[in-house]
Amino acid sequence: RAEVVINGSLSPAVVDRSNESIKHNIQPASAKWRHNQTLSLRIRKQILKFLDAEKDISVLKGTLKPGDVIHYIFDRDSTMNVSQNLHELLPRTSPLKNKHFGTCAIVGNSGVLLNSGCGQEIDTHSFVIRCNLAPVQEYAQDVGIKTDLVTMNPSVIQRAFEDLVNATWREKLLQRLHSLNGSILWIPAFMARGGKERVEWVNELILKHHVNVRTAYPSLRLLHAVRGYWLTNKVHIKRPTTGLLMYTLATRFCDQIYLYGFWPFPLDQNQNPVKYHYYDSLKYGYTSQASPHTMPLEFKALKSLHEQGALKLTVGRCD
Ligand code: CTP
Repeated sequence: RAEVVINGSLSPAVVDRSNESIKHNIQPASAKWRHNQTLSLRIRKQILKFLDAEKDISVLKGTLKPGDVIHYIFDRDSTMNVSQNLHELLPRTSPLKNKHFGTCAIVGNSGVLLNSGCGQEIDTHSFVIRCNLAPVQEYAQDVGIKTDLVTMNPSVIQRAFEDLVNATWREKLLQRLHSLNGSILWIPAFMARGGKERVEWVNELILKHHVNVRTAYPSLRLLHAVRGYWLTNKVHIKRPTTGLLMYTLATRFCDQIYLYGFWPFPLDQNQNPVKYHYYDSLKYGYTSQASPHTMPLEFKALKSLHEQGALKLTVGRCD
């Protein structure tokens, strides 16, 4: 019986001291990659022992009432109260209820997407997941446009929308939200203290302007469950990134999973410089010390899954 080896010796990656510039030739190359259905099904089953994406993708309206107190997942001593607006925006049923897709794309935010020409391919997938409200229009050729689910860490409001300091920034965010046009907006509202006001601003905008999005707020157990799954497979992540969370959730409702824009390294496979994000000027230092993420370690695990056919990583051009 074939084993799922997620962090084993299948990928002989050479890690330097900073752990940032693994020599990572992605093999097999695009044309030779074959989906391993048996393995994908086994991974889905294993992950279901830890979490159920259908349930954990969002807290449901019926389980909370306005005024309820929630302890932040990473700051257990800090609490928040469920506001009227938040309660109003909680879904009544899971946005993934009974959902099933042949192929899904998860689009990470690495600059490796620039000049990839992957937009068209990404848009052909039945379900497209994007991260942190990353812009699409101006980069359509490389990243596509189709968006079925997009995440929004509260910090994005600060980083990409200047904390809505004036009407111009509020309008920018509003336009971005309107452009989502019925897709799922996934807001981790209960993870860490500090994002409370930002989440409230967004909730207020959505309600006030009748923005057509289906909001979802991940369950209180999701983070620990995802971490538990990967730890059990010897992938010692401190705090899973949005990208890894999305992959873990997607195994539940996607038969085949294609990853684009996952490349947490400053040089590409041909040693050309790669921007940290395809759309802004954030620097790499951001990943290492300041952030609790361990992206290169996650990447190694995803690469190993690519090699075994459980997912497909694209880190070059799509044509
Ligand atoms: N990503 C990557 N390589 C990069 C940048 C991002 O692999 N150079 C992937 C990661 O999986 C990441 C996802 O793309 O989670 C989305 O990027 P970003 O918005 O930076 O993700 P976050 O994990 O939310 O980062 P942070 O918590 O720092 O906001």
